[in-house]
Amino acid sequence: MGPVSTPEEATPQARERHAELTQILDEARWRYHVMDAPTIADAEFDRLMVELVELEERYAGLRTPDSPSQQVGGPPSATFAPVTHPARMLSLDNAFSREEVQRWWDRAVRELGAEAITRSQLLCELKVDGLAIDLVYEDGRLARAATRGDGTTGEDVTANIRTVRSIPHTLTGDGPIPSVVEIRGEVFLSVEEFTKVNEHLVEQGKAPFANPRNSAAGSLRQKDPRVTASRNLGFVAHGIGVVEGIELDRLSQAYDLLEGWGVPTSPHRRLVDSLDQVWDYIDHFGEHRHSVEHELDGVVLKLDSRSVQDQLGTTSRAPRWAIAYKYPPEEVTTKLLDIRVAVGRTGRVTPYAVMEPVLVAGSTVARATLHNAGEVERKGVLIGDTVVLRKAGDVIPEVVGPVAELRDGTERRFVMATHCPSCGTELRPEKEGDADLRCPNQRSCPDQLRDRLFHLASRQALDIESLGERAADALLSAGLLVDEGDLFDLTAEDLVRAEFFTTKDGNLSANGTKLLANLEQAKTRPFAKFLVALSIRHVGKGVAPDLAAAFGNIEALRAASEEELAAVDGIGATLAAAVVEWFAEPWRAAIVDKWLAAGCVMADAPSEEQWPQTLAGLSIVVTGSLPGWTRDQLTEAIVARGGKSSSSVSKKTDFVVVGESAGSKYDKAVALRRPMLDADGFAVLLEDGPDAVADRVRVGED
Ligand code: IVH
Repeated sequence: MGPVSTPEEATPQARERHAELTQILDEARWRYHVMDAPTIADAEFDRLMVELVELEERYAGLRTPDSPSQQVGGPPSATFAPVTHPARMLSLDNAFSREEVQRWWDRAVRELGAEAITRSQLLCELKVDGLAIDLVYEDGRLARAATRGDGTTGEDVTANIRTVRSIPHTLTGDGPIPSVVEIRGEVFLSVEEFTKVNEHLVEQGKAPFANPRNSAAGSLRQKDPRVTASRNLGFVAHGIGVVEGIELDRLSQAYDLLEGWGVPTSPHRRLVDSLDQVWDYIDHFGEHRHSVEHELDGVVLKLDSRSVQDQLGTTSRAPRWAIAYKYPPEEVTTKLLDIRVAVGRTGRVTPYAVMEPVLVAGSTVARATLHNAGEVERKGVLIGDTVVLRKAGDVIPEVVGPVAELRDGTERRFVMATHCPSCGTELRPEKEGDADLRCPNQRSCPDQLRDRLFHLASRQALDIESLGERAADALLSAGLLVDEGDLFDLTAEDLVRAEFFTTKDGNLSANGTKLLANLEQAKTRPFAKFLVALSIRHVGKGVAPDLAAAFGNIEALRAASEEELAAVDGIGATLAAAVVEWFAEPWRAAIVDKWLAAGCVMADAPSEEQWPQTLAGLSIVVTGSLPGWTRDQLTEAIVARGGKSSSSVSKKTDFVVVGESAGSKYDKAVALRRPMLDADGFAVLLEDGPDAVADRVRVGED
């Protein structure tokens, strides 16, 4: 038996050397496996590892589960497992005017008295346009990073966060480091990086990000951390969650501590005593918002005193001690180069403005919808005009109107198309007097069909991940679909007729295999999702569940009269008429027939009680990816059968399901000797419960 000791029994020198070795080895493993850029020679790595193992043999307490000696070496998992935040991550209430800020302040004064609020002081900060992240440091080491998610549960993005240069892997400094601290902040792309990333995406023929927030989220949620690393994300802390072992009286004090630990905080924050000083701050950054390295959409005001914060408390979504003042939408001018028309999913043909690209409210805009010919007329814009552009609600770009003084006589009037830009069919209004024109070739107008395919593949419908823009184009240009009715009949033989789904030697590519698998999974989606997928006018994710609950399956819905439909709560006459009209069109009704014949269920899935409760009381962790399952589907399948889907392995875990590219949870399962199953074993477990997998489980590395 080896010597028995605890970390406290290790000498200070041993502990220090152990920490040092841990950091070097972790970093080296990371660089080697994830970044493909080793920084130390293999021999040196081995020598340091031997030293670490020897130390741990002398002082067994130093051998914690996260020690490099306990890691198997593969890259950490980047499959975004759900993580429950130690403390809930709240949002912020918004104020769109100074009056609203004043009301917020008055309320705090009413509750606690002017003296307490003045004594508290206010911290003014910039509202960074990025993505909220929760960093958990245990004994000073970054243990976990997660997105905000719904505030309670986010996604594990530790692997990717480790590539963000400014986020320390280990907290530094001379002062005490808490045993656990949750540091909140915003991950962002600087304006400069945002422009660079977008230019690069466009060069590669990919769609650019719409705004810095999307670009930060998109860069962080990459399956391959190397992509995240290439994006040069920035980070700025804006709060603290759970903290153990340190008392904090003021938020500003927390920021000072964070700075001391090497965590980036904003240099733009300012502690003030009065609302007058708040207005100065707001005015200053209203004028200079573009001289800050990141995009900002407002200013956040926080009462600094922690006791004042505690007394004011929170609502269910936001603290009462803070408020976000939002700047009004920005307006810019640009040149209107052309007005073109596009045909959408429902056949509506809309003119849109093509402009010289311009940065407005944080994103580069080159297009904006003009809704219909009447709207172009009403705005009075001519092709060639200099126009004023703004972001409605800071999201959707909108042409406000022309700068008529800048006209030079070369501008020309827009003439609405008479024929569909996609299929050439003559356009007409649906009903006399409608402002919108439509392409009546709804079944196979390529643009309409393409948009319907996107829509049915979207998350709110059948969630067919592999049916993206390029896959949809490939299916259409290879002539594999007359309409979406043919989708579920696609076979491998069909797909190899399109280059996109073929390998160099003519076999089905990974894209093709994935599409077939995704289509198979989609067949059993809930009935409501199918209703959304059918592109019935007015039937979106809001009402689809009502229709699904009222009729239960597609045949009952098809048989329903307008009156029966309108009798359902939440369904009005227009929607009822749209449903009946949809089924009355033979090619549309045939979509349903073909999907049913191909095995789509199109009926409400059995409710939870109807699944055999094969996993009752079991706690299950899945690590890595299982072919054919998304994270959500795995969780649903486990929960529906009475089990608990957990994100971390502990002694209480009953089964660990090990998929492809399993990460550190696998190591933990080995270390804790929890029973492990592969994908096939998991299928048996779902179907027949724990006894049926007794001869399939693996324990430890044997
Ligand atoms: S404090 C409990 N400070 O804005 C307070 N949030 O609209 C929660 N944000 O989810 C956040 N800059 O992602 C805070 N200086 C700042 C911020 C900031 C950006 C984001 C954050 C939050 C969202 C709410």
